Amino acid sequence: MRLMQHKREAFWFYRFLSIFYDKYVNPLFWTRWMRDQALQLAQLNNPNLEVIDVGSGTGFTTQGIVRKLSTDRITCVDQSPHQLAKAKKKKDLKGCTFQLGDAENIPFPTDHFDRYVSAGSIEYWPNPQQGIYEAYRVIKPGGIALLIGPLEPQKGVQKFMANTWMLFPKEEEYRKWYKKAGFTDIEIKYVRPHWHKGANEYGIAIAGVKPVAGLSPNAASGSSNISETEEPMTFIRTLQLIGRLFIGSLAGFFFIPLALLAYLWYAATGQQNLPEEYREKLNTHQIAAIILIVALLIWGIVA
Ligand SMILES: C[S@@+](CC[C@H](N)C(=O)[O-])C[C@H]1O[C@@H](n2cnc3c(N)ncnc32)[C@H](O)[C@@H]1O
Repeated sequence: MRLMQHKREAFWFYRFLSIFYDKYVNPLFWTRWMRDQALQLAQLNNPNLEVIDVGSGTGFTTQGIVRKLSTDRITCVDQSPHQLAKAKKKKDLKGCTFQLGDAENIPFPTDHFDRYVSAGSIEYWPNPQQGIYEAYRVIKPGGIALLIGPLEPQKGVQKFMANTWMLFPKEEEYRKWYKKAGFTDIEIKYVRPHWHKGANEYGIAIAGVKPVAGLSPNAASGSSNISETEEPMTFIRTLQLIGRLFIGSLAGFFFIPLALLAYLWYAATGQQNLPEEYREKLNTHQIAAIILIVALLIWGIVA
């Protein structure tokens, strides 16, 4: 398993990342255009649909869902109280239900929702197949489960760093997990931010329909018995946690300057194919951070 593919590590990672997440990180990797393109697969075309957003974090994907449905139809689940706290403060998410919970053991009954959405969370699940069994379990027959996640980079340092850091599945793995869970009518869409010009695909949205009521035919039981966050924190486990967090965070932060450079490069020129309302601009926090970094670099060279 990768360094951050553990529930306790993900919990602590977001304890700190949630402070910066909306301002600096998320806008680089998961844009409004990607989100809204991906959400089309969930067919949010009826105002009466009940939707669960799993690994909802600070609510960026939920903000895409509220463009289609009213907030009282939406339930957000995340294992990080710090991420949920940020989402709860957002005005446009007022009225959503927020619930602390695990994607691999969703705290809702079987056949409960019309739609399941999860964006950018599978990377942290120790047992992704279990998470997808849970997606199947909580929706009603005829319901749709949409999962969005990254694809494994195909070569070089990026592949190495991605696989050190967290789960970047292959397209075949997403398809295999969905088929094994019992979904039918599986559809996929590739998603990428405007700055990603590589030949390899960047991320995938995969959706499937639950054909019959009940649990997934291949799931051992309704819910997972994995409860990593409750495992005893022995001395060795604490050392593991600190080591994984430290190296895992370094691997994660490797991607931020790369994305920022590409983002800056294409900010003005690379978005001509996007509708005006989806063109991305650096926000004031990002501009302030860049000015600070440049000032520190100059100071370091001059001093
Ligand atoms: C990259 S953020 C994505 C947030 C959000 N979906 C969005 O679109 O911005 C990943 C989120 O998954 C959550 N997460 C990770 N593992 C989880 C698990 N096992 N159960 C529930 N949430 C989890 C993290 O706490 C974090 O908020």
